[in-house]
Amino acid sequence: MTQRDPDWAQWKAFFAARRERPGVRLLPDEPGLSGIPASVAHSLAIFQLGESGGGTVVGQARGSTLPSLGEDYAETLAMFVAEEHRHAELLACCVRALRGRLITRNWTARLFVFGRRLAGLRLKIMVLLAAEVVGICYYHVLAEGLPDSALKGVLREIIADERAHLRFHCDFFRTQLRTAMHRRVFAALWRALMFAAAVVVLIDHRHALSDLRIPVAHVWRRWMVYSRTAENRIVCVANRGAPAPCLGWQQGESR
Ligand SMILES: [Fe+2]
Ligand SMILES: [Fe+2]
Repeated sequence: MTQRDPDWAQWKAFFAARRERPGVRLLPDEPGLSGIPASVAHSLAIFQLGESGGGTVVGQARGSTLPSLGEDYAETLAMFVAEEHRHAELLACCVRALRGRLITRNWTARLFVFGRRLAGLRLKIMVLLAAEVVGICYYHVLAEGLPDSALKGVLREIIADERAHLRFHCDFFRTQLRTAMHRRVFAALWRALMFAAAVVVLIDHRHALSDLRIPVAHVWRRWMVYSRTAENRIVCVANRGAPAPCLGWQQGESR
């Protein structure tokens, strides 16, 4: 481990401390849920599907010979996958409370699975990092557009988790981008991936956004802030060896 490498044991302890959190219980007669459009339930069902699966990356991390990883990283990645599965359970509860139906197939979820199956741990983690930006941005704008309710609280809890996940994946890339050329290639691929993901999400979730009167331009602006923040955390930290400015993040988070 070099001086600039993340402390995976610390990340492992961070995820381990969150493993026993309770689930949530949402019922259709909870205050604030009855007026929420059906399109929101469908939108959350799509995300619920996306939050399921993803275990193969752990096996790949265990056998990886990439620099600065090791057993602590692989074990932390396994706990990260478990947290995503918890999100799937929370979202399933939200979908049922909105009297929506869970789904087993969706074209954007299939695209995400395709991305996750790309050869190479770095590409897989880049797709997972993109999913964190997608999740943080979308859950955030959705929570802003919803009336006060327990559902909003669940979304906020998931957003806080996704922010930690994003920092975890950013730390991974800081170990992998060791030259200026690596960082330039990463930035180019990252921007292309983020642009494609934005278009896909705006198309697939257009009905929920429209029903909640959330302007596309607002989603786009948030998207840009979060995707550039992730890029800065990786590229600027790797360039300077010091934390990048945390644009758009809540201050005072535990990690
Ligand atoms: Fe998640
Ligand atoms: Fe996540």
